[in-house]
This record gives sequence, C-alpha cells and structure tokens, in this order.
Amino acid sequence: MTEQPPEQPPALPPHQTLTTYYDSDPERSAYVHALFKRTAHHYDTIEKIFGNGGLLYRRYSLRMNGLRPGMKVLDVAIGTAAVACGAAKEVGPTGQVFGVDPNEGMLGEARKKFDGPLTRGVAQQLPFKSDTFDFVTMGIALRHVSDLKATFCEYHRVLKPGGRLWILEGHVAKSRIGHALTRFVWAKAIPGLTLAFTGSRDAKLLMDYYWDTVEQCVPEEQIVAAIASAGFEDPRVRVTMPGAFCEYKGRKALAS
Ligand SMILES: C[S@@+](CC[C@H](N)C(=O)[O-])C[C@H]1O[C@@H](n2cnc3c(N)ncnc32)[C@H](O)[C@@H]1O
Repeated sequence: MTEQPPEQPPALPPHQTLTTYYDSDPERSAYVHALFKRTAHHYDTIEKIFGNGGLLYRRYSLRMNGLRPGMKVLDVAIGTAAVACGAAKEVGPTGQVFGVDPNEGMLGEARKKFDGPLTRGVAQQLPFKSDTFDFVTMGIALRHVSDLKATFCEYHRVLKPGGRLWILEGHVAKSRIGHALTRFVWAKAIPGLTLAFTGSRDAKLLMDYYWDTVEQCVPEEQIVAAIASAGFEDPRVRVTMPGAFCEYKGRKALAS
C-alpha cells in the first residue's frame, strides 16, 4: 500500500474576500502585487505625512523588544525598508539585515537606501535555510500573506533556537466610539491627506485598501493562536497605539 502524504491543515487567510477590489480570493495576491507596484514610489511620501514618526517608532520598538548589535535579522515584506533601515542601525556593523519582498517595485525603492541583501519571495514560503536568523520582523504587511499558519511556520523554521518574532500591524479600537474614531482617521482623513500630498488616486487607493484589510482582519486572538500553533513560546499581542498599531510577538524555544 502506498503511504498517503500527511494532510495539510486548512489555510487561514488574514481576511475575507474583499469584492470591492477583486472578485475572488485567488486574485488577491495579483491585486496586491499590482497595487504596490503602482504605488511603490509614493510609499515614503505617505510616511513623510506622519513626519517619519513611524520610522522612529519601528526602530525604538525593535530595540525595546530585544534587537541587539551583532544580530542577524530577516525583515519580511521589506517594502521601502522602513523596518530594515532601523534594524540595520540597531544591529550595527557586526550584525546583518536581510530583506525579502515579492514586489520588484518595492525592492527597487528599498535598494535606494538599504544596502543589505535583498531577495524576492513571499512570507509563506521563505527562500532561506532553517535556523538562520536571531530576529524575524514584519512591518504592516501581515494582511497580505495568503495563509497566516504557513507564514508563522516559516518564521519559526528560519529562526534560530531562542530567536524572536516581531510583527507590527494595524489596530482597530474595539469600543463603538473608538471604532468610529479609528474609521474616521484611517478611512477618511489619511486617504484624503494621501491624495492631497501625492496627487495620486492609486496612492489613495492603497490607503483605502489598508483600512479595509485592517478592519476586516481576523481577530487578534486568532492570530495569536496561529502563532502558538506554529510552535512559538510566549505568543502575544500588545496594543501599542490604540486605533493605530499593535505588535505580535513570539520566541522560538531554545534547543533542549
Ligand atoms: C505596507 S508595505 C510594508 C513595508 C514595510 N515593511 C513597512 O514597515 O512600511 C507591505 C509590503 O508587503 C509586501 N507583500 C505583499 N504580499 C506579501 C507576501 N505574501 N509576503 C511578503 N511580503 C508581501 C508588499 O510587496 C509590500 O512591499
């Protein structure tokens, strides 16, 4: 009798199909890819609207979460290197930061300011060997992966024993008034400001899409459970700026 391959657990997409943007889930990644390709050159303008405070925040949070000189880091969904540049400053000349992203437009923008190794690839199938990195980071991109469970298994695989996971994500306040305020800021004010500063309807669309994916994202508890089921120790979420950002974390167990 031939042995059957082990059954794969069902995929966990980060949100439901958003038919305002694309018709069915298989079209999602091509839609996201095309959107980021069209808007890559506007991404840093959007950061500048916030006085580049987001860049300082990313770096500060990495340090607070244990990033140290000499560490080897993988920044997944590097985009224009908003996380990677801060990480490179923290790890210093004795450390190294690798960037990975599926989008050639974003990688081109990253290359303008980041001189570490860059690779094309997706979070759910990382082109790196197991037990390689001290830290895996991902800045506001978790909603773009095809499968949260496969993504966290890959993060766990490429981390060294004792390595840490840090994921920055959007946050929606839970109370009715908090939700309404969050919606006003992210669904109205920020897309409006983005259009005013960039003059680009695509850049505004990127921010519209940001809000819709953040609002429709699976609950935080489900994400933490998926991090745990990938094998991470101490999986948790911390709301760092209510109505704006939260962080998911976990640690790969030290080898016994
Ligand atoms: C909003 S940008 C985030 C950039 C940067 N990390 C930051 O903190 O600003 C999202 C990035 O996710 C990338 N992306 C989309 N799908 C992905 C996937 N399946 N795996 C990894 N990255 C993906 C996009 O190409 C884009 O560069």
